[in-house]
Amino acid sequence: MNFLKTTIVLVVIVVAVFTVFVYLGIYNVAATKPHTELASKVFEVVKTRSIQVRAKNITPPSSSDNDIIKGAHHYEEMCATCHGAPGIDPSEIGKGLNPKPPDLGKSAGRWNSKELFWILKHGIKMTGMPAFGPTHTDKELWSIVAFIERLPEISEEEYKNMLGKSNYKEHDNNNHHHNHRDNIHTH
Ligand code: HEC
Repeated sequence: MNFLKTTIVLVVIVVAVFTVFVYLGIYNVAATKPHTELASKVFEVVKTRSIQVRAKNITPPSSSDNDIIKGAHHYEEMCATCHGAPGIDPSEIGKGLNPKPPDLGKSAGRWNSKELFWILKHGIKMTGMPAFGPTHTDKELWSIVAFIERLPEISEEEYKNMLGKSNYKEHDNNNHHHNHRDNIHTH
């Protein structure tokens, strides 16, 4: 009985301390202030395992060079703002986010194709990484995966060439395309 009483008292104390911590606004949610080291580590593990477990049973299709070019167009439209691209820094939006959108040419190698696909389709909660599943077909998402897997080898010049290729629009059957930024094509 004593053990039960002690447990209940402890639980009440923990809940009370937590409530005070929250209501006094002690945790700083400002994007300009990094998470505490403990919070970052915990989230890193939660994120990694959550993605690995959910992506395990996905089957990646094969991809062609044409897919990679389509992926480059999608990337320029939807990802470069935050993640940057070969020869292009992230915009003010990308620079102000916390956690920071990583340079995918450097960091995407830690994920396999299935995991990248899962991340693009579902996004990552409370990080600014959007889910593209609600607005894109699986085929389009796989073309972006194919592109980001090539990203480490793509130079600034090759990237511009890829964006200059127009077969993206001609072969896009479902009429899904974005308004291209003009400045990137002329160079
Ligand atoms: C509004 C900003 C924003 C946009 C747009 C965006 N991302 Fe992200 N992305 C992020 C942030 C922030 C993270 C970091 C999440 C974290 O640290 O857990 C991230 C993480 C990722 C990751 C995991 C990288 C890693 O090393 O853990 C991948 C892959 C990724 N994004 C791909 C993309 C692709 C591809 C697109 C375009 C289709 C895209 N993102 C568009 C903000 C963005």
